[in-house]
Amino acid sequence: MADTLTPVLSRGWADERSWTREAYEARDGYSALRTALDMAPDEIVTLVKDAGLRGRGGAGFPTGMKWSFIPQENPNPKYLVVNADESEPGTCKDIPLMMANPHELIEGVVIASLAIRAEQAFVYVRGEVLHVVRRLRAACREAYEAGYLGADVMGSGRRVDLVIHAGAGAYICGEETALLDSLEGRRGQPRLRPPFPAVEGLYASPTVINNVESIASVPAIVRGGVEWFGSMGTEKSKGFTLYSLSGHVKRPGQYEAPLGTTLRELLDLGGGLRDGAELKFWTPGGSSTPILTAEHLDVPLDYEGVGAAGSMLGTKALQVFDQTTSVVRCVLRWTEFYKHESCGKCTPCREGTWWLVQVLQRLDAGQGRAGDVELLLDLCDNILGRSFCALGDGATSPITSAVRHFRDEFEAGMHTSSAELFPPAASTLF
Ligand code: NAI
Ligand code: SF4
Repeated sequence: MADTLTPVLSRGWADERSWTREAYEARDGYSALRTALDMAPDEIVTLVKDAGLRGRGGAGFPTGMKWSFIPQENPNPKYLVVNADESEPGTCKDIPLMMANPHELIEGVVIASLAIRAEQAFVYVRGEVLHVVRRLRAACREAYEAGYLGADVMGSGRRVDLVIHAGAGAYICGEETALLDSLEGRRGQPRLRPPFPAVEGLYASPTVINNVESIASVPAIVRGGVEWFGSMGTEKSKGFTLYSLSGHVKRPGQYEAPLGTTLRELLDLGGGLRDGAELKFWTPGGSSTPILTAEHLDVPLDYEGVGAAGSMLGTKALQVFDQTTSVVRCVLRWTEFYKHESCGKCTPCREGTWWLVQVLQRLDAGQGRAGDVELLLDLCDNILGRSFCALGDGATSPITSAVRHFRDEFEAGMHTSSAELFPPAASTLF
């Protein structure tokens, strides 16, 4: 259960059987859909645009603007696809949201579908999380039974159908175009953009792809309005959001707070660091974002604030590491993940991540060679900006930032292993 400064998405999570339609309706659930059915589709788009909601999947692209890109003159069907393939290391906000409050997502799906004039929507869920798939399917059935989904949404004559689709557990299928390939029944590999999915997406038709949290935020915006939403957050990063706190903290979990909240404030909410722990480094948004250190405790966690600190807000997965953690080992673990998940389509990422792991393994074992740190940076330089999709670029972020902040630890890998420098302790995470 989340501690919260802005109980919107996490409202009611602690309620008994919070995930049922009955519990959601008791929390005013589906009232926003009633309001939206009285609005013209473009009015809904304008509302979300004016509210300033930015995509919560990591990139922060304005949601309403994305909806407005759908070419309504295109005669093909329009589709809404919710990206629920949450897989970024440390990221764990969408899964609890879908488990505790699946109807908030479904209500958002119906409203967003009305806005872009889509009659068919999909939620693409990561394959390994069967419990989430089951919960969503049960909620979907309940929504059909109540007439919130189907051929005649709440007697309006408008149709919205929803399919809950389980992927097969590949990180790359969270990349939106690979997700579309996978949804169409092919091996998931990124497509060239442009054309962006808004113009040519699922079955070559106009498609909006939004993250779970983005879509689940829509009913609250319809209920509360533009000013209310803008009263939270910062000028350019508005509203509430879910921050996931993990690592060497006393109470890991989801913390809902306005965008622009700092790690220091979130740690206060979460009871602080574990006893005896000193903050060494942390990720603002999962392992694809450059790491930050204790000097960044007061950076506002919004797109601009984290950007100015030399990182990215990403998925708001705050992984916190203390002084017992070997940064080399930590970066090695993340890099092994990227090597394993590289889809193999382009050479810089497929070959580069393999070589990165080789060099990092040597340094971790204390068997690094002279010039290995430069070699690591050179490999990153040859991957960054030369890869087909964001996975390759993301794989370099933790390495280059870790070398920038902790070069000595990488240099030490030429003669001393991570295990010798940081003897495994009860608190060891890697
Ligand atoms: P992006 O910035 O390329 O695109 C963001 C969104 O805006 C996409 O939906 C794209 O279609 C749309 N868009 C951008 N320019 C457009 C245009 N000119 N016309 C129409 N639509 C346009 O970012 P990308 O590559 O989609 O995602 C990268 C982010 O994903 C990273 O910041 C990372 O934090 C996050 N990520 C999240 C994961 C998770 O588990 N939630 C996993 C891995 C990465
Ligand atoms: Fe595949 Fe990596 Fe290239 Fe992306 S960057 S297309 S994941 S090989």
